[in-house]
Amino acid sequence: MNFNTKHKYIKKRIENIPKIQILELGVHQGNATKLFLETCNLNKGHLISVDIVDCSNVSNDPNWEFIHSSDDDFELINKRIKASLDVIFIDSLHETSYVKKVLFNYF
Ligand SMILES: C[S@@+](CC[C@H](N)C(=O)[O-])C[C@H]1O[C@@H](n2cnc3c(N)ncnc32)[C@H](O)[C@@H]1O
Repeated sequence: MNFNTKHKYIKKRIENIPKIQILELGVHQGNATKLFLETCNLNKGHLISVDIVDCSNVSNDPNWEFIHSSDDDFELINKRIKASLDVIFIDSLHETSYVKKVLFNYF
């Protein structure tokens, strides 16, 4: 599945969730970030994105919160998640045991 097909598929699956709460791990140039923000803007949602690199210039959307940190700094990030999550999008470090560790924490 290429990037566009994958993202269109995700968008379709989540676009009707009211007040959607999304956690995104790994921002880079913000391709997925922008797509998630479109969904948040449609239904009063909120997106928290985390990256070890400073990606804060990707967007100035008021529904966006960027956390400049490693996504396994659970003590820091868990405190910033105020509502229960509808979507956890993991695209940071792709090593299996790492993905499992972060998924278990945020799920
Ligand atoms: C594949 S890119 C993300 C691409 C993005 N999802 C998109 O749609 O454009 C991976 C990103 O994960 C970040 N990253 C790698 N390890 C990380 C970690 N432990 N915590 C947070 N971010 C990490 C990298 O800095 C990089 O920006």
